[in-house]
Amino acid sequence: MCGIVGYIGNGNGVEFLIDGLNSLEYRGYDSCGIAGISDEDVRVIKTVGRIKNLEELTPEDLVFNVGIGHTRWATHGGVNVVNSHPHQSASSRFTLVHNGVIENFQELKDRFFKGHNFVSETDTEVIVQLIELFAQDGLTTKEAFLKAISKLQGSYALCLLDKEDADTLYVAKNKSPLLIGLGSECNYVGSDALAMIKYTNKFLEINDGEIVIVKANSVDIEDKEGNLVSRNPFTPNIKYGEIDKGVYDHYMIKEINEQAFAMRNIISKYFDGKNVSMDEEIINNIKDADRLYIIGCGTSYNAGLVGKNYFEKWVRIPTEVHLASEFAYNMPILSKKPMFIFLSQSGETADLRAVLTKVREINSDYKFLVLTNVDASTLSRECDYTLLLHAGVEIAVASTKAYTSQIAVLSILAYEVANRLGYKLKLDIEKELSVVTNAIESILDDAKNIKVLADKLFTERNAFYIGRGVDYYSACEAALKLKEVSYIQTEGFAGGELKHGTIALIEEDTPVVALITNTKLDLNTRGNISEVASRGANTLVITLEKLAREGDYAIPNVNEELAPIVSIVVTQLFAYYAATGRGLDVDKPRNLAKAVTVE
Ligand code: G6P
Repeated sequence: MCGIVGYIGNGNGVEFLIDGLNSLEYRGYDSCGIAGISDEDVRVIKTVGRIKNLEELTPEDLVFNVGIGHTRWATHGGVNVVNSHPHQSASSRFTLVHNGVIENFQELKDRFFKGHNFVSETDTEVIVQLIELFAQDGLTTKEAFLKAISKLQGSYALCLLDKEDADTLYVAKNKSPLLIGLGSECNYVGSDALAMIKYTNKFLEINDGEIVIVKANSVDIEDKEGNLVSRNPFTPNIKYGEIDKGVYDHYMIKEINEQAFAMRNIISKYFDGKNVSMDEEIINNIKDADRLYIIGCGTSYNAGLVGKNYFEKWVRIPTEVHLASEFAYNMPILSKKPMFIFLSQSGETADLRAVLTKVREINSDYKFLVLTNVDASTLSRECDYTLLLHAGVEIAVASTKAYTSQIAVLSILAYEVANRLGYKLKLDIEKELSVVTNAIESILDDAKNIKVLADKLFTERNAFYIGRGVDYYSACEAALKLKEVSYIQTEGFAGGELKHGTIALIEEDTPVVALITNTKLDLNTRGNISEVASRGANTLVITLEKLAREGDYAIPNVNEELAPIVSIVVTQLFAYYAATGRGLDVDKPRNLAKAVTVE
């Protein structure tokens, strides 16, 4: 949560700070601010709301040769200007931006500042006050920064400005993402590469516990012992043009439309001729495991549920799917040879990082694979193996193309492991994924009709998606998508469960959408739909052409196992049209953030 940026150089950093924050807005968007040294004084500009408000407040002639910025997703203290970042020390000498959560901030306040009033309610302010306290004791800024950090428990990415030293930015991180961007006659700091990609494609990673002294012409990384660390820059696989909305009104619809392209990309990356091309060690680790633990949050968790099917049906390996936030603190009894598969679009999710830490405490030999869309993301660096989703940058907070890509990559992985184990599957996965790609395209071509259906269906305060088997998992994802962008209270239900309680909520016109992509379960789910229809529900069935009846929405026939990749696209469009029809900010739904870097 929260995004931070920093600039130091011979040019004017204001444009970068604002651009960078705009790119990081997906991480949090309740308030924002920038600070920099201008005419030997520190100027701080903060506001509640979006970066566009900050832009309006920023004078056109403002020049910062050194500056920092922040976009906030509130954790400590309400959403107001005072709690927004940057925060300053009592004398205003030090100014700081922070992403993360300081768990012992109250303890530090009581210990070092008893009786002092803090300006804000944030955990961040204690850090900047500590730095000043230690500097007043005679320490240099670097020493005071290090000493303050040594007192912190929790997660942080920090960028510090010292009014008395306009040539340096002090940077550190622990468990929160942060990168340095290398420029010419200047350097950048940002929570991710997207924030800086317009300005540079050369980045330096920072490891937890290191501090970085950033100047216009140098970047010195120091380890915990104060030794200089030499590190080669890397260039991520993203281009500035990719983060443009292009002809689309919103990122969400752009990304929904990019799903066919993402499928083609996956096919080209993971097939070499007819053969699957994947790291042998990944395949072997799964082959040798006695149980798989697929772990994710939100949409990624729902993709994991669909993936479980492939591993259990094709590989015949017991597979458990868990929510990361539950798994870390309520861990099930692990099998003798577990293998962990993390699903994370962003590769930054703190709940997953907590699982990694806890499981490694149990046995540091256990292996972790992450499926992520972001090359060189934190989880990609921390896990043993990475499979990239190759979906292209996903910016809308509601995940769409990353979800379908996760399922596609899981299906290829499971298929290949099954092959290696000698199981003869009756499908050619490459061919079937091409059929899936065409099916997605034909749904996208029908977007106008899907909008008409959405307008008719989602007129009420609540809605339900139902399904059985794997369609139940799709129903959960369809419901999540609709509720997160349209604020319609939506539940995804196992069709058969409705009558055990939830059917009490069905009233005249309550929308109930059934997903049916499994021939064996067709009649069962239709039975559930007729139960709710006879109680007044406004129903729709989304099904394969071969199973379609009058009034259904038919999607092209595809392999039934892979059908969740296709049926979900209709529901993504429903969510998009329901939200935009209500005039909502579909790319940045209230209270949400795309990369959730706090537990
Ligand atoms: C946030 C996002 C969701 C996403 C979840 C997991 O809550 O708003 O869209 O599914 O995090 O994120 P990950 O990056 O780990 O897939």
